[in-house]
Amino acid sequence: MTAIAELVQLQRPTRATDVNRRVAPRKVRLTIDGREVSVPDGTSILAACRMIGVEIPTLCFLETLHPVNACRICVVEVEGARVLVPSCSRTVEEGMVVRTDSPRVRHSRKLVLELLASSVDLSATPEVQAWIDEYDAKPDRFGPPAPAAAAGARAAAQPGHHEPPDPRYAATVAEPPTIDNDLYVRDYAKCILCYKCVEACGPDHQNTFAIAVAGRGFDAHISTEFTVPLPDSACVYCGNCIAVCPTGALMAKTEFDRRAAGVWDESRMTTTDTICPYCGVGCTLTLHVDDGEIVKATSPLENAITQGNLCIKGRFGWRFVGNRAPPAGNGDGRR
Ligand code: SF4
Ligand code: SF4
Ligand code: FES
Repeated sequence: MTAIAELVQLQRPTRATDVNRRVAPRKVRLTIDGREVSVPDGTSILAACRMIGVEIPTLCFLETLHPVNACRICVVEVEGARVLVPSCSRTVEEGMVVRTDSPRVRHSRKLVLELLASSVDLSATPEVQAWIDEYDAKPDRFGPPAPAAAAGARAAAQPGHHEPPDPRYAATVAEPPTIDNDLYVRDYAKCILCYKCVEACGPDHQNTFAIAVAGRGFDAHISTEFTVPLPDSACVYCGNCIAVCPTGALMAKTEFDRRAAGVWDESRMTTTDTICPYCGVGCTLTLHVDDGEIVKATSPLENAITQGNLCIKGRFGWRFVGNRAPPAGNGDGRR
């Protein structure tokens, strides 16, 4: 069983009776794209597909978070069901017949991609660009993108007071990035409102509840309480929201600055797993290194201790490694 499949298994809702009797879950048989499959009861359709190598695009889904069904790019057709179902959250049933690549499924995914890509900057998300080609999506059919809003304008919009849309443009969520601290940048022009950061900051991982969705309709956006700057919010800078963001809307400042300078190149980076030196929990750190310099720290999703999460020290406290002692005779003379 792959690490991801194990995580999916771990995430299955556990019944008290299962724990007490330690019974293996019963097997469920279903058909996926004409292939008969047998998987444990409670498995999601998405996990069942992955077990047999059928890939389905996902954006709001992550193995370590509860599904919120926000993006709908993972929909599949289930025979007898009136509507397409989100494969990331719908669990398998005995005798189910699933089609993952029917014309109806492809049409739905194409429209989701067109709506997202016409309104959100997805330039930092290469897999979405690949899906746009794969599904022949045409985001520009809604017209040229509307100009970016002034800083703070979208956050200031009042629910129930909508400006009429400008028919010359496709509506966008474009706005300048919010840079109000040294550790990470919030670039909500790239936000698809997948809720992953809210889940990670809230009940799924961090339980800090520093961010949530504010506003209604097209003005809905991720926000701190009362839109206060991050340093004035409940945020503890764990960066667990950055770790789950699928579009780069939340990004470590080091990465943001390097991308802005045109020197962020993942193809030449190496990664090394090590143990965080700061405390006895011993979280696994994955250090991303470019030309001998640490540029980012993450933690593996499949790590049983961290599940991809870190605290501020593990996530951001590595810059001392790159500090060099001053040359002899300079400053206080210490080496
Ligand atoms: S850094 Fe941590 S505390 Fe701050 S918003 Fe992100 S998840 Fe919440
Ligand atoms: S900031 Fe990122 S993780 Fe949060 S809702 Fe937007 S796209 Fe999703
Ligand atoms: S990935 Fe399933 S609804 Fe978003």
